[in-house]
Amino acid sequence: MKIKDIIILALLLAVITGCSEKKDPVEQKIDQLISQMTLKEKIGQMNQLTGIGMADDMTNAVRNGDVGSILNEIDAVTVNKLQKIAVEESRLKIPLIFARDVIHGYKTIFPIPLGQAASWNPAVAESGARVAAEEASSVGIRWTFAPMIDISRDPRWGRIAESCGEDPYLTSVIGAAMVKGFQGDTLSAPGSIAACAKHFVGYGASESGKDYNTTWIPELQLREVYFPPFQAAIEAGAATFMCSFNDINGVPASGSTFLNRQVLRKEWKYDGVLVSDWGSIEQMIPHGFCADLKEAGEKAAIAGVDIDMMGYAYINHLEELVKSGAVNEKLIDEAVRNILRLKFRLGLFENPYVKEQGRDAFYTESSLQKAKDAAIESVVLLKNDNDVLPLSNNIKSVAVVGPLSDSQADQLGTWCFDAEPEHSVTPLTAIRNDYGTQVRVIAEEGLTYSRDKNANGISKAVAAARNADVILFFAGEEAVLSGEARSRADISLPGKQMEMLAALKQTGKPVVMIVMAGRPLTIEKEVEMADAVLYAFHGGTMAGPALADLIFGKAIPSGKLPVTMPRMVGQVPVYYSHKMTGRPAQNITLIDDIEVGAKQTSIGFTSYHLDAGDSPLFPFGYGLSYTTFKYGDVKLSATALGMNDELTATCDITNTGNYTASEVVQLYIRDKVGSLVRPVKELKGFDKVQVEAGQTKTISFTITANDLAFWHEDMAKRPEAGDFTLWIATDSSSGTSVDFTLR
Ligand code: BGC
Repeated sequence: MKIKDIIILALLLAVITGCSEKKDPVEQKIDQLISQMTLKEKIGQMNQLTGIGMADDMTNAVRNGDVGSILNEIDAVTVNKLQKIAVEESRLKIPLIFARDVIHGYKTIFPIPLGQAASWNPAVAESGARVAAEEASSVGIRWTFAPMIDISRDPRWGRIAESCGEDPYLTSVIGAAMVKGFQGDTLSAPGSIAACAKHFVGYGASESGKDYNTTWIPELQLREVYFPPFQAAIEAGAATFMCSFNDINGVPASGSTFLNRQVLRKEWKYDGVLVSDWGSIEQMIPHGFCADLKEAGEKAAIAGVDIDMMGYAYINHLEELVKSGAVNEKLIDEAVRNILRLKFRLGLFENPYVKEQGRDAFYTESSLQKAKDAAIESVVLLKNDNDVLPLSNNIKSVAVVGPLSDSQADQLGTWCFDAEPEHSVTPLTAIRNDYGTQVRVIAEEGLTYSRDKNANGISKAVAAARNADVILFFAGEEAVLSGEARSRADISLPGKQMEMLAALKQTGKPVVMIVMAGRPLTIEKEVEMADAVLYAFHGGTMAGPALADLIFGKAIPSGKLPVTMPRMVGQVPVYYSHKMTGRPAQNITLIDDIEVGAKQTSIGFTSYHLDAGDSPLFPFGYGLSYTTFKYGDVKLSATALGMNDELTATCDITNTGNYTASEVVQLYIRDKVGSLVRPVKELKGFDKVQVEAGQTKTISFTITANDLAFWHEDMAKRPEAGDFTLWIATDSSSGTSVDFTLR
C-alpha cells in the first residue's frame, strides 16, 4: 500500500470512528436491539392491543414478543405483572408501554378541551394536562392519546367537544401547552406521559359534521388551517402522533404516504411514533380503499404508520408481506426504531415498573383547586342585562332549576372513561355548601335529564321559582350527546328545556341561564329570553364550585368563545376567518321584512342568509366580564414593515368598571390584497391580562413578515408585500383598526 493510500485510509477511518462516536447513544442502543430482533419480534412491537378482557391471551402475547404496547390496562398490579413478563421473560426484554385516552383528566376531571380553550390561557391547559399525567401515571399509564388538535368549524360534530375550536392559532397555543403539561420537563420522569397529537389530519372537517365521514381538503387549506397545530405540537415536543379515521381527498389517513411520509417525516423531520387510530388500518376495507386486511397492512406500512392499534393487520400479515417483497424490511426497521426511541425516551428500559401507590395521587387538594380555577376560566359570559350577575346582596333566595343543576355525571362531559361521578361537585351542592348561609336555596330540577320530554316537572320548577328572588336555570346537553360518534343535526337545546325557560320567564323573576354543553348550541331565542347567560361547556369535577363563585361574584368571568356560535344550524360552517367574498353582505333584508310580492331584484344581491343574516349569534373571541374594558386607539411603531423588520402594535386597555378582572386582548390581521383570496381576519396573537378596576395597561404585540406569510399555489409559504389592516380588540368582530404596509 502506498503512503498516499495509507493516509486516505487513515482519514476515512477517522471519519467513520468520529461519526460513530457522535451517534446518539440511544440510537446506538436501538441499532443494537434491532440487529438482534427477528422480523416477527419487530412486527410485535408494531402491534398494539387493548388490555380490556384480554388478561390471559395477553401474557402469552407479551412473552412471545407479539405486542409492543397495550391500551386501556389501568390496574397498576396488572401493569407490573405484564411488564415483568416483558422485561424478564420475553427474549429481548423490551418493555411495554401502557396507553390510555386521558383527555381532560384521569380522575380529577378538568373542563372539556373546548372549555379549556375558552380560557384562552395556556397555563390552564398545561396544568390540566399535568394533573392528568400525575394521576394517570400513578397506575402505570405512560402514554395518552391527547391532545386532540383537529380544527373544527362544525358544532354538529360531537368531537368538537374534544377540540380547541375553530382557529389554527388558538389551537396551536392551547395544544402545545397540553403537550408540555403531559410530558413535563423530562419525559422519562415517572410522572410524565407521552402526548399524542391527533388526529392527523382533517378529521374535524368530516362532511356534514357526521363522525368518520369523508373530507375533501385542498392541500393549500391543509397547510393553512389543519397542519399548523400539528407543527406546533412537534415544536412543543409531542412524542407521538395518531392518524385520523377519515379519508382526505379519497385517501384514508392511515394509508396516506403524502401525509405520513412526505409531510410528517420528510418535511417536518418528525422522529416520534405514528400510531393508527383504533382499527383505522382495518377500516380501510369498508372505506373501499383496500380489498382485505393484508392489503390494508401493506398500504399502512408503506404509508409509514408505525403502530397498528387494534387492527390486527400487521400482526397477521406483515411478516408475509415482507417475505414476499411487498413491504421492504427497511420500512419495518424505521417503524421499530421510532417505537424503541419512544420507550427509551420514556425511560422504560431503566424504570419499567410503576410504584403501586393506591389512590394517593387522585383528587389532591391542589388538583381540585386547579380544576376549579380552570373551570372558572372556561366559562364565557354571553349576556348580562341590568348587571343581574353577580347576584347582589339583596338577593335572599335562589331557585336552582334545570336538568344540569345536579347531574354529577353530565358535568364531566365526554371522554373521561376513568372519572368517578360521585366526586363531582354539582352547582346545586356548591351553592348550598358555599352560599347556603347567604341565600335560601330552593331546588327543583324540573326536567330530570336534558332530553326529558315529560313536562310534568316544569310546573314544580316554576312554583319553586315563584318563591325565589332569582332563577338559576342550568340547561344544556347530557355528556353522552357529545364526543365520538355523537354528532347532531339539530344543535338546539334538547327536550323541553326551551318550554321550561319560557315558563320560568313568565314568573317575571330574573333568569340566569347557565349552559353546560359539549358544543356551541343554537340558543338565540333562549338568549333573548334570559337576563344573563353563562356558557360553561362541561366544566368537570369542580364545575359546581366554579359556577357558584362566578354567580355570586367571588370570581369574575374571563372566558372567550374558542368557536363561533351560530344562530341556526344552517349557517354551519360559520367561522370568523372566512375568505372575503366578491359581494360582502350589504343592506341585509331579513325574510320577514320582505314585502309580499316584492320583485326578485328588490333586495339586492349580496352574500347572506335571508333568515339568519350575515352574523353569528356570538362571534369567535366573544365574552363579557362583570367589569368593562375600554380599548384605546391602536398605535404602530411604524406604518411600514420591512421584510426583515419588526413592527410593534400597542393599545391601552382601561378597566372602566368596578371589578379587578382579566381580559383576553386579541390581535387580528387582514391582508387586504393577495395573490390568493385571503381571510377577512386572522388571529395572530392574544394576551390574557389582569387589569385592576380603574387601571390602564398597555398591551403590545410584535409582528414580523413571517406572521403575515401564507401558503401559495406552489406550496411554499411566504409573505407578500402589500397593505394590511390590524385590530387589537376584545373579540373577532369589533375594535378599531389601523393600516400598515409590508415592503
Ligand atoms: C378515537 C381515538 C382514541 C382511540 C383509542 C378512537 O375511537 O378516535 O381518539 O384515542 O379510539 O381509544
